[in-house]
Amino acid sequence: MRYMTSEEIREAFLRFFEKKGHKILPSASLIPDDPQLLFTVAGMVPFKPIFWGKVEPVYTRIATCQKCLRTVDIENVGKTPRHHTFFEMLGNFSFGDYFKEEAIEWAWEFLTQVLGVPEEKLWVSVYEEDEEAFRIWNEKIGLPERKILRMGKEDNFWGPAGPTGPCGPDTEIFYDTGYSEGCPDGEECTPANSEGRFVEIWNLVFTEYYQDEKGELHPLSRKNIDTGAGLERFCAMMQGVYSNFDTDLFKPIIERIEDLTSAVYKTDEKKDISIRVIADHIRAITFLISEGIFPSNEGRGYVLRRIIRRAMRHGILLGMNEPFLYKIVDAVVNKMGKIYPEIVQGEKMVKEVLSAEESRFLRTLEQGMRVFDELAEQKGKIESQDAFKLYDTYGLPLELTLEIAKEKGVEIDVKDFDKYMAEQQKKSRLATGNVEFAKRYDYLDELPTSFRVKFTGYEKLEDESEVVLIAKEGRTVEEAYEKDVAEVIFSVTPFYAEKGGQVADTGVAEWKNGKGFVEYVFEASEGIVVHRIKILEGKLRKGEKVILKVDKKRREATMRNHTATHLLHAALRRILGPHVRQAGSLVAPERLRFDFTHYKSLSKEEIMQIENLVNEWIMEAIPVEVRYTSYEEAVKSGVIALFTEKYGDVVRVVEVPGVSKELCGGTHVRNTGQIGLFKILSEESVSSGVRRIEAVTGFEILKLVRDYEFIISHLKEILGSKEDEIVDRVLNLKKKVKELEKKLSQGKISEETVSERRLEDGIRVYYGIFDEVDVRHLGGIADNILKKNRGIVVLFSRFENKVSLVVKVSDELTDKYNASTIARNIAKLLGGSGGGRKNFAQAGGKRPEMIKTVLEQLEDLLR
Ligand code: SER
Repeated sequence: MRYMTSEEIREAFLRFFEKKGHKILPSASLIPDDPQLLFTVAGMVPFKPIFWGKVEPVYTRIATCQKCLRTVDIENVGKTPRHHTFFEMLGNFSFGDYFKEEAIEWAWEFLTQVLGVPEEKLWVSVYEEDEEAFRIWNEKIGLPERKILRMGKEDNFWGPAGPTGPCGPDTEIFYDTGYSEGCPDGEECTPANSEGRFVEIWNLVFTEYYQDEKGELHPLSRKNIDTGAGLERFCAMMQGVYSNFDTDLFKPIIERIEDLTSAVYKTDEKKDISIRVIADHIRAITFLISEGIFPSNEGRGYVLRRIIRRAMRHGILLGMNEPFLYKIVDAVVNKMGKIYPEIVQGEKMVKEVLSAEESRFLRTLEQGMRVFDELAEQKGKIESQDAFKLYDTYGLPLELTLEIAKEKGVEIDVKDFDKYMAEQQKKSRLATGNVEFAKRYDYLDELPTSFRVKFTGYEKLEDESEVVLIAKEGRTVEEAYEKDVAEVIFSVTPFYAEKGGQVADTGVAEWKNGKGFVEYVFEASEGIVVHRIKILEGKLRKGEKVILKVDKKRREATMRNHTATHLLHAALRRILGPHVRQAGSLVAPERLRFDFTHYKSLSKEEIMQIENLVNEWIMEAIPVEVRYTSYEEAVKSGVIALFTEKYGDVVRVVEVPGVSKELCGGTHVRNTGQIGLFKILSEESVSSGVRRIEAVTGFEILKLVRDYEFIISHLKEILGSKEDEIVDRVLNLKKKVKELEKKLSQGKISEETVSERRLEDGIRVYYGIFDEVDVRHLGGIADNILKKNRGIVVLFSRFENKVSLVVKVSDELTDKYNASTIARNIAKLLGGSGGGRKNFAQAGGKRPEMIKTVLEQLEDLLR
């Protein structure tokens, strides 16, 4: 066997199958378009709907090298030579084209002819009932019977990927490493009795069934082939090494870890485990983050967080106590970037997100470990509620707590962990207050099962209809009267029920001799639209003919915001990158709110670029197109799909040609020009990895401009300056205040701004005029002056329309000069009043322009 690099093996595999008529496709995303799966767990996942018969294949033969992620065996990763989270799967697929014979023959040909694996090194297993596969191996390939093992469903039946779906019997090919440990004495060593020696290198699945919810098998309309070979295992085989971690895929990563941690691989088995965990996990981390998954507490983000935290824990075992994982990302990008350009593109982001998460975790980990030790010490063991506390408060994933316990030999029992977790989730749901959906609408049982309300609101805002059902306080009634709030179901409605982030329409219902206000509309179950109506006049009867009128202005404003939301989503992906994914949305008449995945706050520059782009699309006045199609077609044509739709559904696609294509049931403007204008109001963080933008469109922008106009004209008035001088003026004022504050704090103001006069009797008077200085400060200044001098102090502070003053008299002069009297005298002239004690008084007046006069008459006023 010739040594082959991972690059050569990938290439050889794909070229081989290309020659056999296969279309070579690039790897699909790690995040499948599949509501049943969190991650792409096998090469077949992107083709599941084709195997299932729900989508017609464009090519009937495909081969790929698919990036995959599995976390079921995560605790084994690092401890064995072949367990991974992230891995690459080579696969060839046939959709109703070739079947068992070719699949087996080609696999054999590739292994023995292209890779040059000696035949005697290969063994196979087949499903015990699959005579055909046995015969092909034995007769066509010529493999001796003893090397074809028959095994049960457990070993030789694959799938489905997810709770239901395509699956079938398989045949597996094993490579004999020659490693003899674990072989039974006196018996021939086979893949059935010695796992360590034989490595399963290729699985050929004959996908001919689909498994339903009950676990029952049904034949598929087509017979298919799904094969999967782990690239890492092929590499180990072709590079003559026993462990995947000794292949060229991992070597540069392990070297990097050695450099960073100063650990030397293969000198200490315990440390080796940690090195392997990190080497494995860093690949998963790099690929996940570059696809826009960020660490969080649920779903994919939680899996990522677990992987990061597990890698960090092993870093700590290697003596690392600061963020370091992000420094290994280079090694992954260098090795795999040519094959997977997304990690080159995402490199910077991966490092930023990762180092931030590392810092965050290090802070809590330290605390968590301390609490773990305390609990273990106190109670002698760790129980479910402790593990939950460690998770909830200190961010220690359960898996980690289990590992720590094992390592430290602490007894642990976590059977109720899920219960605590569920309770917490329930609490947080209640906290967000979504009670509307918790309610049951028993009265709906009175409707025929096939009944659906016809929605005409895409085309009309007014329609004729008829009352089908009226309910009050959860029970059906024949009539509703004035002032009642009733829940009413009509045969037809133009009212949009709250859904997909878009708020419900409001409006009126009119009938002969009566009228009601439609205040809220919701879908109680699929297709059953309920109107909450306040009866304003007359009474409403079952069977009554009504005219339903949607509040047009409100609905139109909502439509502007909904289409603008799609434009915003498209702009975010273009400006920030394709990792941006919708994480929540609210479309109301007044504003729109859009949550999306992104790892850091947006710069002013980015916000401006996004606003510009959206407004360009608005001003291009692009007609908005709406069409209905199958989910499969829609996904194929590249729509942005959320994960709620199911294969086989008819879906509504809203398209702004050249800009955006989304599955959406909402109401939209006919032309982007109708949005008017778009402006972002705020951008902020919602949770880790999720940002929120709030924005306005249309008339709300006019309102916004008017509000600003009002504020500016007010400022102009207050400051007495022109619009373009406001900023300078405010800056000047700020500067002045700063200077004054500085002077005040240094006590300088007194010396510089206070003048001195001598009265006939030789007593000194200190006086000064300040601008907009608080009276408290005036008092302080006066104190300062009289600390050093003897006499009378009179200080004024001028404001826009008023004046304040303080008068202070040295204690030994109060027999002759009374501060209170002086203050009162002066206040009279200033159009105000004042008073105080003999040695200190305050006053205020409304005529600052009289200060000059006061100073002219100061001697008289003091007497
Ligand atoms: N789906 C099968 C596996 O994952 C073969 O590709 O093993």
